[in-house]
Amino acid sequence: MVSRVKTVAFQGIEAVAVDVQVMVAPGKVGIQIVGLPDKAVAESRERVQAALHASGLSMPPKKVTVNLAPADLPKEGSHYDLPIALGLMVALGAVPSDMLAGYCVLGELSLDGMITPVAGVLPAAMRANALDMGLICPAECGPEAAWASAEMPIVAARSLIQIANHFRGTQVIARPEPVIRAAPANLPDLAEIKGQIIAKRALEIAAAGGHNLLMVGPPGSGKSMLAQRLPSILPPLAPRELLEVSMIASIAGELSGGKLSDRRPFRSPHHSASMAAMVGGGLRARPGEVSLAHRGVLFLDELPEFSPVVLDSLRQPLEGGESVIARANHRVTYPAKFQLIAAMNPCRCGMAGEPGHRCARGPRCAADYQGRISGPLVDRIDLRVEVPAVTATDLIRPAPAETSEEVLARVVAARKRQAERFSALGLPAETLNAHCSASLVEEIAMVDAPGSRLLQEAAEKLKFSARAYHRILKVARTLADLDAATSVQRVHLAEAISYRLAGERLATAA
Ligand SMILES: Nc1ncnc2c1ncn2[C@@H]1O[C@H](COP(=O)(O)OP(=O)(O)O)[C@@H](O)[C@H]1O
Ligand SMILES: [Mg+2]
Repeated sequence: MVSRVKTVAFQGIEAVAVDVQVMVAPGKVGIQIVGLPDKAVAESRERVQAALHASGLSMPPKKVTVNLAPADLPKEGSHYDLPIALGLMVALGAVPSDMLAGYCVLGELSLDGMITPVAGVLPAAMRANALDMGLICPAECGPEAAWASAEMPIVAARSLIQIANHFRGTQVIARPEPVIRAAPANLPDLAEIKGQIIAKRALEIAAAGGHNLLMVGPPGSGKSMLAQRLPSILPPLAPRELLEVSMIASIAGELSGGKLSDRRPFRSPHHSASMAAMVGGGLRARPGEVSLAHRGVLFLDELPEFSPVVLDSLRQPLEGGESVIARANHRVTYPAKFQLIAAMNPCRCGMAGEPGHRCARGPRCAADYQGRISGPLVDRIDLRVEVPAVTATDLIRPAPAETSEEVLARVVAARKRQAERFSALGLPAETLNAHCSASLVEEIAMVDAPGSRLLQEAAEKLKFSARAYHRILKVARTLADLDAATSVQRVHLAEAISYRLAGERLATAA
């Protein structure tokens, strides 16, 4: 007899239906798993046998064949333990087979028959719900599964015995409740930063339009401090974004306790990060930092210290909003629409361009250091600001600074204006100016006559590339949105151009 249990395989953040078929037949005693399993799946054999034994079920002295269908789909991970064990329990008569028919099952087993958490429960639950099925998953992952739908049946169990009892009706497991992680009460506030008016302004523009930002300045000027305060001026995730972001976190196994959060992700990988850590992949397909920062911020501190290969791998996700990873026999795609915030010192010793400072290595020091970042990467950064050392006056007698709350209100208003505009054009409401295509930005910019003249003069004198031109328009559009202006005016363009030039001036001054 063949018993069948439904489970899933993951392709990117998509859960694909997989059928676990278990057959017990006379023959050589043991379990064999077929159907393109990877090493973790093959090891299931040992865990399933031990867990069944610990649960008081002895394996039949027969040949057990487990087939994971479709056979041509690669199966990775340890979540096949539970469907395989339940398939065997059905074959042994410990669980009635018709009970499991309407469920999708995933979970890892420990040797004592307990069910341990696995990654990907949220996408699996969404898939099961779309197919009108219920879900059986580890107890810890229950709150995460509950987000998929308020009605679908969910059995979040601690052990194999609990599942058997639940289906026999002796001890029914209650449906888990969706849980949201409380927002951190005290995010660091912008008001703590003294001076740095221009950098703060750039941070506000970046938050309003989703633009990439590069801060260049000597050590101790407050670059890291500024970046860490960006989350405090970003609005929370909209419900649709929340699910999207949580699906990625779920696949990466980063939803602790199955709790979702409506805070935008803020990822700050160390500069020793490998390419697999940054864009995803590695031994097992896993989303990288660029995907974990989806709909949020990727902060790269000390940008030139990252390996040039890693930095170059950012270009594709920055442009396309997703990261594509080539595997041995297939490709995996993860969403990666993030905002890049980068900080760097102008040269290795950090003091190039400071008044009165002369670097022993001369201008080469800065040129070499900045040369570590490729032109095409810098070209994708819309806003560049110099963050000079904070002045003594600012430090000792600071002017009253705005709080994050006040800045957030302006950011929210500017985002609302973008949402209205993009919704009217039939685009998703979460679209931001920074995400626009070149043709779209030309359509929405609505530059007035004096603005057009300035743009013309600047383009001729400064020899913009086509990409630079469109990026300036996007930033100017955000500036107009912050100003509640319908058309992009000369002042907006002038300010947008100044942020473009800061980086170039720095390169030549060095
Ligand atoms: N503008 C500023 N206002 C208040 N404190 C500052 C400012 N700039 C730097 N500091 C202080 O200096 C420390 C180092 O700043 P940091 O952001 O790490 O500088 P950077 O990243 O530019 O090297 C901060 O923790 C803070 O105490
Ligand atoms: Mg720093």
